[in-house]
Amino acid sequence: MSPARPSVPAVLRVLGGRPLLLLLLLLSAPAVRGDCGLPPDVPNAQPVLEGLSPFPVQHTVRYKCNEGFVKVPGKPDSALCQENNQWSEVKEFCNRSCNDPPRLLFASLEKTYSNQNYFPVGSTVDYQCRLGYRRERDLSTTLTCLDNLEWSKPAEFCKKRACPNPGELQNGNVKIETDLLFGSFISLSCNTGYKLIGASSIYCVVQENGVGWSDRLPLCQEISCPEPPKIENGMIKEESSIYVYRQTVTYECNRGFTLVGQHSIYCDAENEEGVWSGPAPECRGRHVPPKPPPEVQESTTVPSAQKPTKVIVPGAAYLISGHTWVTLTVLLVLLITVG
Ligand SMILES: *[C@@H]1O[C@H](CO)[C@@H](O)[C@H](O)[C@H]1NC(C)=O
Repeated sequence: MSPARPSVPAVLRVLGGRPLLLLLLLLSAPAVRGDCGLPPDVPNAQPVLEGLSPFPVQHTVRYKCNEGFVKVPGKPDSALCQENNQWSEVKEFCNRSCNDPPRLLFASLEKTYSNQNYFPVGSTVDYQCRLGYRRERDLSTTLTCLDNLEWSKPAEFCKKRACPNPGELQNGNVKIETDLLFGSFISLSCNTGYKLIGASSIYCVVQENGVGWSDRLPLCQEISCPEPPKIENGMIKEESSIYVYRQTVTYECNRGFTLVGQHSIYCDAENEEGVWSGPAPECRGRHVPPKPPPEVQESTTVPSAQKPTKVIVPGAAYLISGHTWVTLTVLLVLLITVG
């Protein structure tokens, strides 16, 4: 580093016997108060110069590593212009280094390396499996900075964990989209006539001690309709306490009323809600005449059954009168015989 530096004391020695020249030098050049020349060369690094030259005593110059080189932690990277107008010694502090270790989908760098940026050839880093992954035995979790400043290729040393089999969905369907591994999801749907209560898809996510489903399986609830409408002058045949999807109700009119509309309506589903397929029928009382005749006939059959009794009654009357006749005859005979 000395060749770059002009030998100021030597100049002064030459001028030693000439006070005028010395005075001129003192006035014109701060060099006399002491300064340093160009900073020394450092392998694989360049000084960061801010236009100051020559450099005053106590001034420090920092160096920057050339491209492809990285500062070795702990080694000084600057030079100081000392009182003796000499730069302090700067040892080689830049070295070849791999770039930051690769980011892996299945593993993260061990914390000890997270703030490190100097990875010389031959240095190693270790990884640990990310959450949701488990360690694949026999495969190394270590990467090495190779001579070409590339990291060794990582094996897939962590594999996705698997969620438990979700099982069957009663009255519904479980669709496995890809697999049951961490990060996957399954879709759930209900059979027609059933309403899904809960999540329609669940995910295999990180949970305590591994992975698990993001939600429990939903329920498939049978769709039911509200109570069917009541009608005037009529009724529902075979009423039930609940009306489920596709269940039918049949209406019937009271005697003397005629049904207008659909006899039956059924429980349909609209947006997973139970709705009746149509309006309830009406029972109209206008056509009363057609019905009474059978009623009259019916009522006549009952009195007709009484006719025989009516026949019997006169018979009985004859019987009684016959009895009386006999009694009278007997009395007459008695009277005659007595007489
Ligand atoms: C640079 O790295 C090599 C390889 O790791 C090492 O042997 C050498 O000592 C390092 N040089 C410096 C200046 O740190």
